[in-house]
Amino acid sequence: MTGGAGFIGSNFVHHVLERTDDSVVVLDKLTYAGNMASLTDLPAQRFRFVKGDICDRELVDSLVAKADAVVHFAAESHNDNSLNNPEPFIQTNLYGTFSLLEAVRRHDVRYHHISTDEVYGDLELDDPAKFTPERAYNPSSPYSSSKAGSDLLVRAWVRSFGVRATISNCSNNYGPRQHVEKFIPRQITNVIDGIRPKLYGAGLNIRDWIHVDDHNAAVLTILEKGRIGETYLIGADGEVDNKTVIEKILQAMGQPADAYDHVNDRPGHDLRYAIDATKLRDELGWRPHYTDFDAGLAATIEWYRTNESWWRPQKAVVEAKYAAQGQ
Ligand code: NAD
Ligand code: DAU
Repeated sequence: MTGGAGFIGSNFVHHVLERTDDSVVVLDKLTYAGNMASLTDLPAQRFRFVKGDICDRELVDSLVAKADAVVHFAAESHNDNSLNNPEPFIQTNLYGTFSLLEAVRRHDVRYHHISTDEVYGDLELDDPAKFTPERAYNPSSPYSSSKAGSDLLVRAWVRSFGVRATISNCSNNYGPRQHVEKFIPRQITNVIDGIRPKLYGAGLNIRDWIHVDDHNAAVLTILEKGRIGETYLIGADGEVDNKTVIEKILQAMGQPADAYDHVNDRPGHDLRYAIDATKLRDELGWRPHYTDFDAGLAATIEWYRTNESWWRPQKAVVEAKYAAQGQ
């Protein structure tokens, strides 16, 4: 697998090693978003870490040659970063996916591609529709367009070369080990540090929150039972607007619900994402386990409270970067 030192990837490593007998090899470049502290207490005989770039064709080829399956999580993942400097997003998300596709094609290895609901663009706040796998792609940011492009590469490699691949597009994840640049960890660690949470614009934007373990359980299900060439949307009916999320965090942490600041909005800010996961539920029998967002949020707050050494080294750099852009 790739990207195993990141947020979702590291939780996937723990998930797979706890729930299966499989062995896992992680290829990860350890960018600012990779954290080896997320990969401790793992069974040494079933886990190996390789530091390297998915764009390194030779390295990727040598690792894929020995794998039964490849799950591709590695990416530049943050929209705000993609607005400041799109180049690494083009390189890692597009060329990196190409590099993996060529290796799995050469060695005929099963491939699962991790992607995002943002490839579909956004929905109006009052639109009754949700994203379905048939919906046309309409990405908004350099991040989401690079992910959309990577999905299209996978589809082409399936059709033209018979690569045995599946794709999943998931909504916003929350849970332990998420980088403090992201919305929920940023606000939790702000409150811990006595900094007021920062809401972009009016904060009416809606995200469809899913616990990272539910995402990873779905990925494992697709890897085991998914139909080759198919796209599965992963979501747990967790729509909440950003203002409400900040109020929930403040209240859960014993602060007044209005103790936050409005800051500059994100350019091109998507309004609403919403996933229709019927295909995943009906075809593969997947169900989310974490259906109570407030309980999941409380557990996540507790994780950041008790794992300060995990996030502390990242915090000042992230806040300085946001401050420079009035966010
Ligand atoms: P993350 O930023 O936390 O982690 C990304 C990982 O990839 C890091 O460990 C980083 O070191 C590694 N990486 C980056 N460039 C690399 C390269 N060139 N070679 C090797 N490794 C490299 O990301 P995340 O939030 O865990 O997201 C993982 C995947 O899930 C991404 O593909 C993302 O698009 C997708 N996704 C994320 C969410 C979400 O809410 N976070 C939702 C849906 C889909
Ligand atoms: O939908 C899936 C996507 O979810 C993934 O593909 C991305 O990798 C992941 O980063 C996430 O993208 P978002 O842009 O939705 O997540 P982010 O955590 O950056 O922001 C969530 C919402 O909160 C968004 O509407 C912007 C807003 N926000 C964000 C930050 C960091 C704030 O209001 N204040 C903040 O400080």
